[in-house]
Amino acid sequence: MALLVRPDNMERISTPEQAKAYIDEQIKDIQEQVKDKKVLLALSGGVDSSVCAALLIKAIGQNLVCVHVNHGLLRKGEPEEVIRVFKEELGANLIYVDAVDRFLDKLAGVDDPEQKRHIIGAEFIDVFAEEARKLDGIEFLGQGTIWPDILESEAGIKAHHNAGGLPEDLQFELVEPVRILYKDEVRVVGKELGLPDSMVYRQPFPGPGLGVRCPGAITRDRLEAVRESDAILREEFAKAGLEGKVWQYFTVVPDFKSTGITDGKRTFAWPCIIRAINTTDVVEVTVEHLDPALMDHLALRITTEVPGINRVLYDFTPKPPATVEYE
Ligand code: XMP
Repeated sequence: MALLVRPDNMERISTPEQAKAYIDEQIKDIQEQVKDKKVLLALSGGVDSSVCAALLIKAIGQNLVCVHVNHGLLRKGEPEEVIRVFKEELGANLIYVDAVDRFLDKLAGVDDPEQKRHIIGAEFIDVFAEEARKLDGIEFLGQGTIWPDILESEAGIKAHHNAGGLPEDLQFELVEPVRILYKDEVRVVGKELGLPDSMVYRQPFPGPGLGVRCPGAITRDRLEAVRESDAILREEFAKAGLEGKVWQYFTVVPDFKSTGITDGKRTFAWPCIIRAINTTDVVEVTVEHLDPALMDHLALRITTEVPGINRVLYDFTPKPPATVEYE
């Protein structure tokens, strides 16, 4: 029987042996719960849903149907990585939905942050429900709920947005194979399952994705500037050995322009803001102090390689007073 509550005396999973024992137990529990029925899972490529998918694949193989929705707000290379790891390497039954135009068309001209989040969330459910209705014989919904999600929703800190949200005609029994784990344990289990480090040690990424890092009304060109500058930042942090050390880092491209100069010609373009922070609980956050040589290099690369950017700024504000994300 799958556990719904983490036992008080449960040892923290930190070794490959403990992870293996957990995986074996989960495979048994999943098989017992699901039998020969089908499970549907929204696979975002984040740590929790990826580990959840990998466990389900081990337990029920092709009876797991993964749906990866590309809403156009993912980081550079993410949809490709999900397809490579899950479809090509793990042989998963994966449906890829290119919903980029659908999301960006709905978001066009919308500058209110709450409305943007609402549109992204509601559209995601619509796309996922449409895919679910095309399938026959689904009886279960896989979810990458983890133990802090349960604790936070019980404490009233965060609505547990994983559960529910689907329309009345699509109510499935839940399968939550990482439900009793903390994030660090999910990573140890993911590593033991053979997922790549880029997935297992992925930094937190908000559900509305790059949408909250393109403040105001999202336009395709400014969104591309966010995506490209984020890719450069991640590449340079990896080269500098900061990947996995700095808790979260990303770029933001605000909707205003300033004057600059390139090849002797006046430019009028956006700034790119770099944010790099450390925390344990995300309630209080400190700013990572970057090596000045790395800052120079980032400014050079981002202004020369990303169209539409002529200035690079560094956000040195802790939380509070600032939040991590800009919207
Ligand atoms: P804030 O901006 O509230 O961010 O200081 C704290 C942490 O939460 C992440 N974050 C989100 N994660 N959906 C998510 O799944 C969201 O809507 C969301 N908003 C913020 C943020 O990246 C940071 O790690």
